[in-house]
Amino acid sequence: MKTIAITGDKGGVGKSTISALLSQWFEHQNYKVSVLDADPNRTIYTWIEKCRDKGYEFCAAEKNADLLIIDTAGTSGSSLIRYVREADLIIVPFQPHIADLEIVVGWFLSINESLQKKAVFIPNRKEGTNEQREGILQISQIIKTQDRGVLLSGFANRPTIYPTILNALTQNYFSILKDVKTKEEINSNFSILKELLYGK
Ligand SMILES: Nc1ncnc2c1ncn2[C@@H]1O[C@H](COP(=O)(O)OP(=O)(O)OP(=O)(O)O)[C@@H](O)[C@H]1O
Ligand SMILES: [Mg+2]
Repeated sequence: MKTIAITGDKGGVGKSTISALLSQWFEHQNYKVSVLDADPNRTIYTWIEKCRDKGYEFCAAEKNADLLIIDTAGTSGSSLIRYVREADLIIVPFQPHIADLEIVVGWFLSINESLQKKAVFIPNRKEGTNEQREGILQISQIIKTQDRGVLLSGFANRPTIYPTILNALTQNYFSILKDVKTKEEINSNFSILKELLYGK
């Protein structure tokens, strides 16, 4: 079984949203997925419970899962580092605001030395502003200097879709997703993760 930890030292950047999307995406591709909610706020479990109430078992703790997805809390601490160490791949969503970059990059640099795995950075809620572009450029330059850093193209800010997607689904999100741009965006990011984990 492979393990992905969605993590980082910053709250509210889309960790739970990306964890939920990722688990739904892999499940749609016939992987057996299990989700571990390592956040005391229980964001993912709350979504799973809402779906269950509607009769849809969303990544219910599978025996013999192919993939374990761990959603962590947006604070540093020993438990977070433990999940990071145990994972095959860590995913670090961030909002590409210059003010946040130091936190994201500083955290990565502080643990990178002791990590023997890839850290995948995902810019989230992109709005195409010059300030954000500059932020992404800066982070890409820093990541390039680190062997294990990978930067994905990331996700646009889609306030009409993202807050509601996981609210009490009755079937897999990717069986009902119609929006072509969103589909392409998610596929292009997540295909790279799949390749990093399982090869081509
Ligand atoms: N690409 C996006 N476009 C629009 N809204 C988004 C996007 N990604 C996440 N959001 C919204 O941002 C908010 C925070 O997302 P989420 O709860 O996934 O962050 P988090 O990192 O898990 O937060 P926490 O640190 O509290 O666990 C949510 O309201 C979510 O719907
Ligand atoms: Mg969360």
